[in-house]
Amino acid sequence: MANEANNPALPAGRFQEIISHCKEYGYIFQSSEIYDGLSAVYDYGQMGAQLKKNLRDYWWKSMTQIHDNIVGIDAAIFMHPTTWKASGHVDNFSDPMIDNKDSNKRYRVDHLIEGFAEEQLAMSKEELAKEVLASMDLLIAKDDFAGLKKLIEDNKIKCGISKTCNWTDVRQFNLMFSTQIGSLAEEADTIYLRPETAQGIFVNYLNVQKSGRLKLPFGIAQTGKAFRNEIVARQFIFRMREFEQMEMQFFIRPGTQMQWFNYWKEERKKWHESIGIPAEKLRYHDHVKLAHYADAALDIEFEFPFGWKELEGIHSRTDFDLKQHELFSKKKLQYFDNDLNEEGKPYGNYTPYVVETSVGLDRLFLTVISLAYKNESWKKEDGSDDSRVVLKIPPMLAPYKLAILPLLKKDGLPEIAKQIMDDCKADFYCFYEEKDSIGKRYRRMDAIGTPFCVTIDHQTKEDNTVTIRYRDSMTQERIAIADVKRLVMEKIAF
Ligand code: GAP
Repeated sequence: MANEANNPALPAGRFQEIISHCKEYGYIFQSSEIYDGLSAVYDYGQMGAQLKKNLRDYWWKSMTQIHDNIVGIDAAIFMHPTTWKASGHVDNFSDPMIDNKDSNKRYRVDHLIEGFAEEQLAMSKEELAKEVLASMDLLIAKDDFAGLKKLIEDNKIKCGISKTCNWTDVRQFNLMFSTQIGSLAEEADTIYLRPETAQGIFVNYLNVQKSGRLKLPFGIAQTGKAFRNEIVARQFIFRMREFEQMEMQFFIRPGTQMQWFNYWKEERKKWHESIGIPAEKLRYHDHVKLAHYADAALDIEFEFPFGWKELEGIHSRTDFDLKQHELFSKKKLQYFDNDLNEEGKPYGNYTPYVVETSVGLDRLFLTVISLAYKNESWKKEDGSDDSRVVLKIPPMLAPYKLAILPLLKKDGLPEIAKQIMDDCKADFYCFYEEKDSIGKRYRRMDAIGTPFCVTIDHQTKEDNTVTIRYRDSMTQERIAIADVKRLVMEKIAF
């Protein structure tokens, strides 16, 4: 049996292998690579786009189809500029940064300090790492920029490029990208590329509630691109300047926010487990410093190959956003609740509270790929060594579900294979391949993560059976052609 050489606890050094694998097999490419790439921007190739779509579809279905009180929308990326004034992003969506005066390299202060703590951990200086991170959390919570600079200087934290400690003061930088709308420069208005999809939901709250005749509690879900001018963009698709979010705002009665916050905290962790993420690779991290809109917040963290990091955020956003949009638009965004309260009177008009779930699709993709990537080696029956690189992506998410492989390019075998393909391709993605030896073809299907292969050989012509090979176990069995579609459909059902 195969020995899993590098999962689940993938050493950080092997992370580069995953990145190379993603490129070699059409999952992810550096954006504009022929022009030497664009930092922190990535393109999804033919395999990656399909895996990403399958993840998005599964999230969409879980939210909007499985929950009968959640609907989905698709709001524009461009929004009226006042949206971002109202939401607080113009004034508050910034991170403390520090520049090294010798290299002119800019760092996000928390990333610089976390990097230092990781180095200490690697040198078994656990106490120091913990102490520095705890001090950082306290200083960030108090917006104490002088204290943060002192922490960096006291610990002699160096710039990775100049290797000096010659730092500027800590300052705030806004992360939103701005552009102009309008044809003439003098008429143009500054607008922003949305830094989160959530605001498209808030400004549509009343339209959706009224047109859908929705009764609280209800949710509005949406997926789409978001943009942030991340200063330290690193770790592949973990932190990008253009990325995709899958967000759901759950509108509730004021005072019930902790009940719903706890509900969604549990639900979302279970959802991650439902796509095959082991429970021990997920944990909660409560926020010390709450965002300007939140009265409770936590991250669901995943143990990425480079450590525990945020995968999804759950935020109790109170009525902050709707109230702000009421204030700036001068329109009422209230809800009339005719359910009776404890005194037997209708709750009446109020601005709903909101609990938000927000997961990055690209981070989810990285989670799935880093769990799926395995470099296996084993001894064959004759004593010789064998190995393979395989993506053990859960069948329901894999880009191709079934590879259809005629053993030879002759004797009528391709015709039978194409017949199977025609029978299956309307229901799921199939990959047809007749070049190379069957062993090489299996290896290629392992590398792109295809969970099932069927091989058509001479026996097929006699008894209408094919060999089905299971990617994860590499076991094979003979089944009737008539059973192929049903078997695959059963295994890939959402
Ligand atoms: N609406 C709330 C919100 O945007 P957030 O914690 O800033 O909250 C939510 O972002 C999720 O979006 C994160 O948990 C992460 O998965 C993803 N995300 C945020 N910034 C990202 C980036 N630069 N690159 C990739 N994903 C990102």
